[in-house]
Amino acid sequence: MHPDQYVGGGTGGGSWRDIGGLKRFFEESSVYRLECEGGTVLISFRTDRIVRVVWNPSGEPDLGLNASLLEPAQEGPGRILAEVKEREIWLSSSQLKVVIRKAPLRLIFFDASGRELVSEGERGMMASGKGEVLCVKKTGEADRFYGFGEKSGFLDKRGERFGMWNTDVYAPHNPDTDELYVSIPFYLTLREGTAHGLFFFNTFRSAFDLRGEEEHSFRAAGGQLDYFVMAGPTAKDVLAQYTSLTGRAPIPPRWALGYHQSRYSYETEAEVRELAATFKEKGIPLDVVHLDIHYMYGYRVFTFDQGRFPDPRGLIEELREQGIRVVPIVDPGVKADPEYQVFREGVREGMFCGYLDGQLFYGQVWPERSAFPDFTDGKVREWWGDLHSFYTELGIEGIWNDMNEPSVFNESKTMDLDVVHANDGRPATHRELHNVYGYHMSAATYSGMKRGLEGRRPFVLTRAGYAGIQKHAAVWTGDNRSFWEHLEMSVPMCLNLGLSGVPLCGADVGGFSNDSNPELLARWTQLGAFLPFFRNHSEMKAIRQEPWVFGEGTEEVARKYIRLRYRWLPYLYSLFKEANDSGVPVVRPLFLEFPKDAETYAISDQFLLGPSVLVAPVARPHARRRMVYLPAGGWVNYWTEERVEGGRHVVVDAPLDTIPLFVREGAVLPLAAADRLSASERVEELELHVYPPAIGESSEFTLYEDDGTTFGYEAGACYSERVSVRRSAPGQLEIASRVERDGYSPDWGGRKLVVHGEAAERLDVIFNGKKVANCYSY
Ligand code: GLC
Repeated sequence: MHPDQYVGGGTGGGSWRDIGGLKRFFEESSVYRLECEGGTVLISFRTDRIVRVVWNPSGEPDLGLNASLLEPAQEGPGRILAEVKEREIWLSSSQLKVVIRKAPLRLIFFDASGRELVSEGERGMMASGKGEVLCVKKTGEADRFYGFGEKSGFLDKRGERFGMWNTDVYAPHNPDTDELYVSIPFYLTLREGTAHGLFFFNTFRSAFDLRGEEEHSFRAAGGQLDYFVMAGPTAKDVLAQYTSLTGRAPIPPRWALGYHQSRYSYETEAEVRELAATFKEKGIPLDVVHLDIHYMYGYRVFTFDQGRFPDPRGLIEELREQGIRVVPIVDPGVKADPEYQVFREGVREGMFCGYLDGQLFYGQVWPERSAFPDFTDGKVREWWGDLHSFYTELGIEGIWNDMNEPSVFNESKTMDLDVVHANDGRPATHRELHNVYGYHMSAATYSGMKRGLEGRRPFVLTRAGYAGIQKHAAVWTGDNRSFWEHLEMSVPMCLNLGLSGVPLCGADVGGFSNDSNPELLARWTQLGAFLPFFRNHSEMKAIRQEPWVFGEGTEEVARKYIRLRYRWLPYLYSLFKEANDSGVPVVRPLFLEFPKDAETYAISDQFLLGPSVLVAPVARPHARRRMVYLPAGGWVNYWTEERVEGGRHVVVDAPLDTIPLFVREGAVLPLAAADRLSASERVEELELHVYPPAIGESSEFTLYEDDGTTFGYEAGACYSERVSVRRSAPGQLEIASRVERDGYSPDWGGRKLVVHGEAAERLDVIFNGKKVANCYSY
């Protein structure tokens, strides 16, 4: 291995220097300034629970750097107390205390109860002669590390080392594939049930090293050592804090939560029509058909190939009438063809990336020699966004962004690092901004689509992204393969994406490359139905994998689960509202709901959908049962209604048509009644399924609804109903539903209450003060 490629845990053999001792300390407009031997550090409290540290080893620290990636702070930090001691300085908000050791400078963060969160020991902040920055933190014995965006491997990242450099990885994603398409340099540390977070706000290539028993570190190839510490104390609090910084996902248009069918590629109008007709004929719901690169004329974005798609408007309208949307792919590479309008205009107006001397950067991608828009420039984002009127005018409401790492077919797999981006008035190299290129592309796409859709919500799907990508796009995990291992890996991958602020994510169901098979497709569709973004996609060389191609058995399983997905949409939609409000993801690792249960900390092969549904996918061929861990409390097997006491592992039957599902006692699940073939169809009856809590216990859930289409919800055009459930006596269940917001009237045909569990028959059900049957329409 070349010595320069070492990004390991130590400081390497290179010329690293410590930040040294503190020379001078003072406050200037609520920012604490620490002038040290190795440069200046600024500390500022964003809120009482979020504090930021910025060290620029080679100049004045800049708190405004990349500020557009962050949300404006909503609330101030309150009063900060600064106490200067002989060897230390203490900076305290009401919730967080930073202890600054003076010589050498070391930072230790405590919460209000005196619990140590993040600390430094022998080593702290360092810089290398090559402009790298490094920060070493202590690792507590019990620490578990989660988040880090899109990573292969298992849920808990302790013991691993990986980099952050948006990379197109077509090769199989292995446990050691450390750099993938998305970079989110954020992690959440769970220590005996309480949590804190750290966001390393640096866009350069970075690396995290979690291998050491006593220390872990993060580093970047350049820029400032800039990070935020979030105090928690719960993991949900950390997510709320992290998303208050980087933004929360808008509520997706309802149709985007339906089933998506894709293929590289559906190549003609006739093929797309036939596809939609087959779904209909087979009674399998479908909301979206994706159009991969073959829809374009010679891979020129913002075109349709006239031969293959002579009447896109007609096709889109026809499908729309059946409740199906078309989502075309848009890559960043613009074909360098002087007869192509987009290229000509881009060159003329200075929209493309280039070098310092004014030459454009050209790279080979699908359209061959291509130029790349400089999305770091507001003018370019606006231009690119506006180009999407080409799609919106045809009736398109969703766009799929791909290749936006950016991926280039050359040795480095990307743009030259010495390309200089405009970066909204602060020019910087591609070396610095590579990781945010895809983020800015999706931001441009989202805003452009939003302008074109005049009030309707756009859906943007992206392959690449950076912290905050959730504001603009859903993320799919790129080119996976039809491997059981990839089905298995998609679970911790999505969970960690959720723990990194991205609630709408999913993997290609059935696997993208290699050949799927009946059993794998059946199992993967079962799982996909419970992951936030549900799309079946495969590549040209792979065997086809639409739900019916493997015969009736697989088709039956796929139909059952795709329909189930539609039945569960009201629950799912309510969870997206929660994510929008609080940053808590839709699919959750078990520890998020059971933080005191250490057994949950490393569970990668089960997850919770919302607070109360435990999903345990089958990830091995021929397996017809599996072990499931149920945290303490009562659970109900969704399929058999059998009650199972938790706090233990159980072996559960899982015939091919069954994915083990357990509902936590106390759960309230709003489900849609009749089978619908599209998410835009009316819900004939909204069912409230109640799983009675244990005696003496109570619980609640907020059912959320809005028009599913517009941004009216932001101005209060929404409906929410808080359902509270209480079991005050053994034979009695009290359910109260209270409308909390009525700015929108849901279009449900009727409503029904269904009480579950073995005791349901014997319970007196009191619903809003009135005794009713355990299955009650109203
Ligand atoms: C990339 C994408 C894949 C797409 C293909 C062709 O490999 O990841 O989803 O089908 O390009 O556009």
